[in-house]
Amino acid sequence: MGKRPHIICHMVASLDGKVTGKFLSSPISAEACEVYYILNRRYREEGASGFICGRVTMEESFTGGKTPELSGHCDDSFEREWHMTPEYLKGSYAVSFDPKGRVGWESALIEDEDPGYDGTQVIEVLSGAADKRYPSYLESKGIPYFVAGDERIDVSRALELIYERTGAECLLLEGGSIINGEFLRAGCVDELSIVVAPAVADKDDKPLFFGANLSSFELVSAECIGSVPVLRYIKKDARDACAGELS
Ligand SMILES: NC(=O)c1ccc[n+]([C@@H]2O[C@H](COP(=O)([O-])OP(=O)(O)OC[C@H]3O[C@@H](n4cnc5c(N)ncnc54)[C@H](OP(=O)(O)O)[C@@H]3O)[C@@H](O)[C@H]2O)c1
Repeated sequence: MGKRPHIICHMVASLDGKVTGKFLSSPISAEACEVYYILNRRYREEGASGFICGRVTMEESFTGGKTPELSGHCDDSFEREWHMTPEYLKGSYAVSFDPKGRVGWESALIEDEDPGYDGTQVIEVLSGAADKRYPSYLESKGIPYFVAGDERIDVSRALELIYERTGAECLLLEGGSIINGEFLRAGCVDELSIVVAPAVADKDDKPLFFGANLSSFELVSAECIGSVPVLRYIKKDARDACAGELS
């Protein structure tokens, strides 16, 4: 198994361990969300090379659910494992786990008012189930991509390829529930950074790790920032596979 980046799963969670739904936009969670973004910037300053999100979160956060316009694009570049030339190696990445190639990116760099996200280079991680024209669409937008897995994304392989190509030693995993669960089951969550919001979520909201298996973590720190508890845990047995950790 090759080296991969150290993965810190950084999330706002309700008191009952949920991470999706209305509680996030409720005023009661405003301070927790503010702390979340402060910590995101802090992790980036300490050396995290960017963040990873699932397709749904990327759409909600950055593209407004726009779908890619594929007409006029050819399908002859799909077999290429990596489409990434050195000019894309900006050291700061927004990694989109998008197995079917559904995210309608307009630009290769994230535009966001938060400097913790603004200017990060989009990288699309696809599976073989993506529309064969999608890579050509990405190339037209100047977005690097690679394929890791046939029907679904092989999380471990994807992380190894990211490390190989970008040298990113640490990345933040920032949801949502489904992608977090995939990383946990693949043994690729090395650290947890949980910002606790003072709310109980609705019954249908999803947990921190969807489809989790039994996993244990060791407490590193428990602090309050303002009135917001922040819990950090590490999974010790995952350390050997990782390239680096934050100081
Ligand atoms: N509390 C927080 O801090 C926080 C942070 C971020 C997001 N969120 C919330 O999380 C919600 C979205 O979470 P979510 O769990 O519904 O979706 P998600 O985890 O953001 O995205 C799930 C999608 O990712 C794709 N995917 C990528 N790799 C995969 C793999 N190996 N296996 C399976 N699917 C893979 C699939 O797309 P396809 O369906 O196209 O196959 C899947 O449906 C948002 O509403 C947002 O508000 C909360």
